[in-house]
Amino acid sequence: PGPIHKDLNALKWIIGKWGSIKAEGSFPTIESFKYCEEISFTSVGQPVLNYSSLSWHPIKLNPMHLESGFLRVKPGTNQVSFMVAHNFGLTSLEEGCFTENKLEVKSSRIERMHFAKDPKVLEIVRTYELLQDGNLELILSMSTTNTPLTQHLKVQYLKCLL
Ligand code: HEM
Repeated sequence: PGPIHKDLNALKWIIGKWGSIKAEGSFPTIESFKYCEEISFTSVGQPVLNYSSLSWHPIKLNPMHLESGFLRVKPGTNQVSFMVAHNFGLTSLEEGCFTENKLEVKSSRIERMHFAKDPKVLEIVRTYELLQDGNLELILSMSTTNTPLTQHLKVQYLKCLL
């Protein structure tokens, strides 16, 4: 990891590589499932964190959902913009703010490849929270053309690397 930009000081708690200890997915239209995931928020000295997520099937081990993006802080504020590309043909711009233990973002724009699978995702809302025990929790909800805003993912991560 590079030096941490001063605008990221208040968001230091999220920096690092995190591995899931419990990851569950659900949605009204699908069977609930468990998965494994590794995410990282890495500093390279800019007022932005490089983000990546790789998830895989807990038994078959095949890759599942992948994400790559940037979490940029508006200098001198607690506002962020999270730009994410998803392997299933979608990009999301998610905006929000953070505190000393929570980061909440909500999509302001979602674009998709013209042949991306239906249903269309209309909204993404995610909250990362640093828990008392030092683990990180993610709750992610989405709405689609078929389903109103409903939780899709709940994950607890353990920090693996600074
Ligand atoms: C299903 C979106 C993250 C695994 C779906 C569906 C959508 C979706 C639209 C179809 C729902 C339906 O048919 O009504 C998203 C979005 C994500 C996300 C926007 C992140 C922002 C993940 C992650 C995993 C995952 C991290 C981890 C493995 C699945 C599985 C299904 C599913 C297994 C059911 C099978 C399938 O349709 O492929 N997701 N997903 N999703 N998602 Fe996600």
